[in-house]
Amino acid sequence: MSEPQQSAKMWSGRFREPLNATFESWQRSFPFDWRLVPYEVEASIAHARAIEAAGILTSEELLQMEEGLRAVAKLKDISQNEQAEDVHHFVELELTKIIGDLALKLHTGRSRNEQIATDMRLFVREAIDNTLAGLTAWRKALIDLAESAGEATMPSYTHLQRAEPVLVAHWLLAYVSMIERDASRLTDARKRMNLCPLGSGAVAGATLALDSTIAARALGFDAPTPNSMDATSDRDFALEFTQAIATLGIHISRFAEELTLYSTAEFGFLDLPEAFSTGSSAMPQKKNPDLTELIRGKSGRLLGAATTLATLIKGLPLAYNKDLQEGQEPVFDSADTIAGILSVLPAFTASLKFRHGKMKSAAETGYLNAMAAATYLSNKGVPFRKAHEHIGNAVRLGLETNRELQDLTLAELQTICPDFAEDFYASITLEATLDCHDVIGGTARTRVRTALAEARTRLTAQSGQTK
Ligand code: ARG
Repeated sequence: MSEPQQSAKMWSGRFREPLNATFESWQRSFPFDWRLVPYEVEASIAHARAIEAAGILTSEELLQMEEGLRAVAKLKDISQNEQAEDVHHFVELELTKIIGDLALKLHTGRSRNEQIATDMRLFVREAIDNTLAGLTAWRKALIDLAESAGEATMPSYTHLQRAEPVLVAHWLLAYVSMIERDASRLTDARKRMNLCPLGSGAVAGATLALDSTIAARALGFDAPTPNSMDATSDRDFALEFTQAIATLGIHISRFAEELTLYSTAEFGFLDLPEAFSTGSSAMPQKKNPDLTELIRGKSGRLLGAATTLATLIKGLPLAYNKDLQEGQEPVFDSADTIAGILSVLPAFTASLKFRHGKMKSAAETGYLNAMAAATYLSNKGVPFRKAHEHIGNAVRLGLETNRELQDLTLAELQTICPDFAEDFYASITLEATLDCHDVIGGTARTRVRTALAEARTRLTAQSGQTK
């Protein structure tokens, strides 16, 4: 005899002893998988159609079942339910309350193992679509900002030491390149994961001759999964999602770090937007970059989620194992965290105000035109190695006399190398220093103008096809 408490379970038949109460509540996934209810309902409707086609339900019963399931999806405050073991149990319990024993036919030819695999795919697919939409908005904000920066300049850095002048637009477009890779990774993962596990059964395939293309089609999947053992235990789609999001998080974190640095008095490149900054309760003068710092912090969580999933999966024998239940929360956390970040980042980016004067004077001082100067000599036929040394000597003279390269006299320069001529000065202006990088991907003004137009064209072409 089953205990009365046990009979409400989905698996009580072979059990004689009641569950240990603490174990029972500890192993439940409903406290977090309740958010899969909408997907579980959609997948159940799809399954109901497949079993109707197989003759298990009449068309009348199918209608009743569909109506009942849609009513379950509308229930409020479901997360408080203390009886349901998991989302599958919850839907069955509630459906039974609404349509009676007919609900018990729904489980014909299916298993929770394929259901959770399906629900999670549906969740991840939607999370990818939401992330892509958020990324499009951020990408647009960066492209707009790059456009409004015009020919504004700033220093670029290597080793965090001033290197060469670049256009501010060129710097911003570096992040657009990163986002484009992120979007392509997510789009690619979405394509690969868009197969339907329904029909896989518990491990070996459904015990009913179901047409699994019916459910696949109803749920917008491209086809049924090709192997039931893989389909019930595979979480690559979740892993790929969290990894792609972690990589995106790394990019966002680098952007956040640069803005945090640039907003310091030491750099002074950026006036933090007040609408996105906070004050200090102790120091009245402070305006703190909380938004960029929080983003930098949250990117750590994204990496954590990807690591949790990889670690969880790596030792699992085929096929389904209960460990997989632990894979849900990192996916939810990734999806929520990136949604949160992308809910503020585009508007924050759009509101950025750079101190272009400060950026420009940082780009004009500290011998950032030394590479252009060496290029001048090498264009005159001096071997680059020699040219490098001559300009190094000129920089040394400048440092000792507190002058930039353009402030040295021609006579002084010619004592270093006789190939210096009057045209040297025109070749090391800020504009010339930018324009000598006239290659695809370089910071020459015409190249950046083209790159910006191309980035805009790709954005317009791609933003329409998020789904
Ligand atoms: N809550 C379970 C999970 O998330 C659902 C699948 C349960 N299957 C089973 N055979 N216990 O993985």
